[in-house]
Amino acid sequence: MGSWPLDPRGPQAESIAFVYWILFACAVVVLAIVVGALTYSGIKFRDRPGRVAQQFHGSNTLELVWTVVPTLMVISFTALSWNRLNFINDVNSNVAMTVKVEGRQWSWNFTYPDSPTFKLQDGTTLQAGEQLDIPAGQKIKLELTAKDVIHSFWVPNLGGKKDAVPGHVTSLWIQADQPGTYKGQCFEYCGDGHADMLITIVAHAPAEYATWAKDAVHQADLLNDPKTAAGRNAFLTGPCAGCHTVKGTTAAGKVGPDLTHIASKPNIAGVLSPVNQENLTKWVRNAPSIKPGIVMPKFEGVLPDDQIDAIVQWLLTLK
Ligand code: CUA
Repeated sequence: MGSWPLDPRGPQAESIAFVYWILFACAVVVLAIVVGALTYSGIKFRDRPGRVAQQFHGSNTLELVWTVVPTLMVISFTALSWNRLNFINDVNSNVAMTVKVEGRQWSWNFTYPDSPTFKLQDGTTLQAGEQLDIPAGQKIKLELTAKDVIHSFWVPNLGGKKDAVPGHVTSLWIQADQPGTYKGQCFEYCGDGHADMLITIVAHAPAEYATWAKDAVHQADLLNDPKTAAGRNAFLTGPCAGCHTVKGTTAAGKVGPDLTHIASKPNIAGVLSPVNQENLTKWVRNAPSIKPGIVMPKFEGVLPDDQIDAIVQWLLTLK
């Protein structure tokens, strides 16, 4: 049904949908009774020639019914909402992971927990923009704040919405029952880019989450490494860029394959897999020895070894 609160994919969203449907059902019943009684009376007691309207003053039974029944309904709604709000607002018990979330004009930034799992080589903690990766089936606490103006965090399938306010920390928890991708959106008008302030939450099978975290940390370390930047520079200013395209860079060669997502490919040139440091290095050093007749020349002895190394390291960041 898409990204809306009546398609709940986690306990918090289920709680909200549950209250919603009960209120909705009661509202429909009340509407049917009121409109039914009105229609019935309008037809049965309408003005007709020769008919004198019956005169009466008050009915204790009716007045009691329409006072007591709505009162009981409102009291039950209050009790139900109170009960569910306690569950929805409980951001502290059984929390598996706490993520810091900062809203800014116009994107979301996530900082993973300050734990060895998410520690980078430079001592900082793993961060991500736009997308938050979580383990499925676990309660994730979000500590929200904002850099500039008030934003509002809302992923309808997973939970309620919460304002992100500059200078304050507000808390919200979310949980996805099943692995999958859940979309959200800033819900407080915050300027020109408000509509593009999107949120993607990817829930992984719990058994695979550690692997995801390890890869993400490794990827961030690679990107931070000065050698990666050197490799990028060597690629863009050296012979590579003459034949290959890497979108988002100045490399726009058309002779060889597009390398924009080389690190996500199942193999190198269809012959060498997986795509890793060892195989890519082999390939760059001497492609013709692996795929005879290929246009790509050998670079062993043409480029210094450490340059090849650095280029390969940069290529591995191109996911
Ligand atoms: Cu941020 Cu709207």
